[in-house]
Amino acid sequence: MAIATMTTPLPISFFPILLLIPAVCFTICHANSNLLCIQSEREALLKFKHHLIDPSNRLSSWVEGGDCCEWTGVVCHNSTGHVNKLHLAAPLSEPDGFATNAEMEAYYNSRLGGKINPSLLELKHLSSLDLSYNDFNSIHIPKFFGLLESLTYLNLSRAQFQGAIPHILANLSKLQYLDLGGNDLKSKSLQWVSGLSSLQYLDLSSADLSEATDWVQVTFKLPSLLELHLSGCGLNNDPSPTSVNSTKSLVVLHLSGNSLSSVPKWIFSLHGLVSIDLSYNFLEGSIPDYFGNISFLEVLDLNWNHLNSSIPNSLYSLNRLQFLSLGNNQLQGTISSAIGNLSSVTQLDLSVNQLNDQIPLSIGELSSLKLFDVSKNQLNGQIPLSIGQLTSLEKFDVSENQLNGQIPLSIGELSSLKLFDVSKNQLNGQIPWSIGQLSSLKLFDVSENQLNGTFPLSLGRLESLETLDCGYNLLEGVVSETHFSNLTRLTTLAASHNRLRFEPNSSWIPPFQCERIELGNWHLGPKFPQWLKFQKKLSYLDISCAGISDVMPTWFLNLPTQFKHLNLSSNQLRGEISYLNVRNIVDLSSNRFIGPLPRVFPTLPFLILSNNSFSGSLFELLCNSSSEKGMEVLYIDKNLISGDIPDCWNHWQRLILLNLGSNNLTGKIPPSLWHLNLKMLNLRNNTMFGELPSTLQNSPNLIMFDLSENHFSGSVPAWIGDKLSKLVILSLRSNNFDGHIPHKICDLQFLQNLDLAHNNISGVIPKMF
Ligand SMILES: *[C@@H]1O[C@H](CO)[C@@H](O)[C@H](O)[C@H]1NC(C)=O
Ligand SMILES: *[C@@H]1O[C@H](CO)[C@@H](O)[C@H](O)[C@H]1NC(C)=O
Ligand SMILES: *[C@@H]1O[C@H](CO)[C@@H](O)[C@H](O)[C@H]1NC(C)=O
Ligand SMILES: *[C@@H]1O[C@H](CO)[C@@H](O)[C@H](O)[C@H]1NC(C)=O
Ligand SMILES: *[C@@H]1O[C@H](CO)[C@@H](O)[C@H](O)[C@H]1NC(C)=O
Ligand SMILES: *[C@@H]1O[C@H](CO)[C@@H](O)[C@H](O)[C@H]1NC(C)=O
Ligand SMILES: *[C@@H]1O[C@H](CO)[C@@H](O)[C@H](O)[C@H]1NC(C)=O
Ligand SMILES: *[C@@H]1O[C@H](CO)[C@@H](O)[C@H](O)[C@H]1NC(C)=O
Ligand SMILES: *[C@@H]1O[C@H](CO)[C@@H](O)[C@H](O)[C@H]1NC(C)=O
Ligand SMILES: *[C@@H]1O[C@H](CO)[C@@H](O)[C@H](O)[C@H]1NC(C)=O
Ligand SMILES: *[C@@H]1O[C@H](CO)[C@@H](O)[C@H](O)[C@H]1NC(C)=O
Ligand SMILES: *[C@@H]1O[C@H](CO)[C@@H](O)[C@H](O)[C@H]1NC(C)=O
Repeated sequence: MAIATMTTPLPISFFPILLLIPAVCFTICHANSNLLCIQSEREALLKFKHHLIDPSNRLSSWVEGGDCCEWTGVVCHNSTGHVNKLHLAAPLSEPDGFATNAEMEAYYNSRLGGKINPSLLELKHLSSLDLSYNDFNSIHIPKFFGLLESLTYLNLSRAQFQGAIPHILANLSKLQYLDLGGNDLKSKSLQWVSGLSSLQYLDLSSADLSEATDWVQVTFKLPSLLELHLSGCGLNNDPSPTSVNSTKSLVVLHLSGNSLSSVPKWIFSLHGLVSIDLSYNFLEGSIPDYFGNISFLEVLDLNWNHLNSSIPNSLYSLNRLQFLSLGNNQLQGTISSAIGNLSSVTQLDLSVNQLNDQIPLSIGELSSLKLFDVSKNQLNGQIPLSIGQLTSLEKFDVSENQLNGQIPLSIGELSSLKLFDVSKNQLNGQIPWSIGQLSSLKLFDVSENQLNGTFPLSLGRLESLETLDCGYNLLEGVVSETHFSNLTRLTTLAASHNRLRFEPNSSWIPPFQCERIELGNWHLGPKFPQWLKFQKKLSYLDISCAGISDVMPTWFLNLPTQFKHLNLSSNQLRGEISYLNVRNIVDLSSNRFIGPLPRVFPTLPFLILSNNSFSGSLFELLCNSSSEKGMEVLYIDKNLISGDIPDCWNHWQRLILLNLGSNNLTGKIPPSLWHLNLKMLNLRNNTMFGELPSTLQNSPNLIMFDLSENHFSGSVPAWIGDKLSKLVILSLRSNNFDGHIPHKICDLQFLQNLDLAHNNISGVIPKMF
């Protein structure tokens, strides 16, 4: 191919350049590009490749005899043909927690690894080297990088390098960009950095610089430095300069995730700063007024600190500010109406503070605003009508405040809105019909307010909606299939605790596939909702107290998904249940289930079966599995369980609440039950007998202990006063206990309810009662 290309006429302008380059290159020159590859550099690159691990074969174009200037990631100088840039950053960034296995694998395979061969030194003209986001598996940064003297750009960000940063990097006097962020590096001093006299950009984030107390002096003497990123470096308050003499003007200063407890004073002599990030530190006291002097500021991030002042007025004069985050502090006072002066702001986060009073009307002037988050404060008054002017708004979150009044009709104007969260306030009135205009809306949460009126039909137009939560309000009326007709993307439908009624046609097939459905306290019955049959992704279902009076359908128990949470309580469901494929919480209480106790997922922590007619023995549930049980809470009270309590509790080490009251249990309390660390044991209203064993002393965390209405006998042991010192409720009522009431019982300092009536106990009731 290379020889064939030589027969094609070359462009006229090409000939003078050809004369400049070594003869060895002629055989491989590419006719239809002006790029040339120098053989020694090609060989150096092949040697470099040879020592790399490349699982996805990203460097497949790097082959013997090829034009290295055409290879993936290689850029040659357009006239000399020397390799100028090597850009081998991994193409994929780390997937989030929701990624599939295939996506994770593609990501891991996209990363280069292995050894970095010094053959790169052959690339004498290399000015730019980018190996970021690869996985060099904790090797040290090669020392020979310090000899790549033409480098102006070196990016090793998040490439799994480890160890001390080699000081020889200081010899790269032409270096303008040095990005070593996100590695596991360390440097005891930053003195070496002072050699990098051309440096404009320095990122050493995640390196351990806790001993490098010279970081301010050194970095601020760099004459050209524009950006300094030292996030998560273990930096403490700098003991030294209160002001710095810097000839240049730092533009970006990112120091998040360190241990600073006050805003360094020298920041305020850097008048050219455009971006300041001091989030995730331990800043305390007040927000310094001086930030208002940094008049070019566009980004100010003070999120996650311990600042406890009010918001200084001077901040509101920063009319170039685009990003302001003061969230997760302890800020007090009000949001001034001067906030309307922040005319460039796009993201405003004041969430999780103690701000009070009203949201000022002037927020309507923030015409570029995309994110407005004042959630988790103590704001009151109404949502200002002026929010309708914020036509760029994408996220509006005022949840967990004390806002009252109505949701303004003007929200219908917010055509870019994706997230609307006003949950946990005291809003009243109706859900405005105008929300139907919010065609981009993905999340609509108005839960835990006092909204009344109906479930508006216009909700049915929100084609982008994924999460709808209007639970815990006063909505009433009938919901129809039409309400949902266009909600094809819905994954969460939460609306429990309203007075709504939903009786779709039995042949209705929902247009959505929800993962979470909460319709507790709706009127859904009397038939079991057939439409759930089509919810193939369901993992959280609450249809408690929904007026369902039906036989439990077998298709429901055979749904292909594994539930995390299943609450069917307080209906009139009938029938037997053999197995429940639920991982976290099952509540079937107050129904009419019969037959043996269901089998459950082995590590299920919460099982509530109270108030049904389950019968048979406990044996299968308790004993028929040798695996470790995860159960923490087991309520089977008010059923028809009979027989002895089997002695199989050794595998139930996590159990803390056990209620087997009001069954038909008999026999003695099995010894293994006393090996658990129970907080509650309720066996009342059975026909059990025996004496209180001394092993009961092994349950020192008991808070509630109820054996009433059985046939237990013997005396009430004195050690109860010492050993069960956390008891709040002790009821031995209606048994055959005899003897005296031990005085030691007076030592139970938390005891609120002691009931020993209807026994054969004699003597005086201790004074304390
Ligand atoms: C070569 O690169 C320089 C600067 O990068 C550019 O100005 C010039 O136009 C390029 N020449 C050709 C022939 O592409
Ligand atoms: C280094 O590479 C990463 C990822 O490829 C990129 O996000 C970062 O901006 C680069 N650093 C510089 C200084 O260009
Ligand atoms: C680094 O630079 C210094 C001074 O410029 C020089 O003395 C030293 O030899 C250089 N180190 C290496 C390994 O080239
Ligand atoms: C800052 O510069 C001034 C004058 O240029 C000088 O007098 C002063 O000592 C310098 N301060 C520091 C901390 O270097
Ligand atoms: C703010 O925090 C500082 C330092 O933690 C404390 O001394 C001061 O009392 C706090 N002020 C208020 C109003 O809570
Ligand atoms: C901030 O600006 C005010 C008024 O412009 C000035 O009086 C004050 O000294 C400045 N503060 C700092 C720390 O520069
Ligand atoms: C806000 O702007 C108004 C009018 O431009 C001005 O009078 C006021 O001083 C400004 N407030 C602040 C805190 O900058
Ligand atoms: C809704 O509540 C408001 C006040 O909270 C009341 O005036 C109105 O009559 C109520 N509407 C309905 C339909 O109950
Ligand atoms: C669903 O979308 C169609 C087509 O856009 C529209 O005609 C219909 O009115 C919508 N349904 C509801 C309940 O808004
Ligand atoms: C239920 O839906 C079916 C099919 O769409 C229809 O034929 C029937 O009339 C509907 N029944 C009711 C009561 O709406
Ligand atoms: C005791 O249990 C029986 C069923 O075993 C039940 O009928 C009765 O109501 C229960 N008594 C009390 C006081 O809970
Ligand atoms: C309780 O158990 C006894 C014997 O175990 C049995 O005779 C009686 O019928 C049972 N009572 C109920 C209500 O199940």
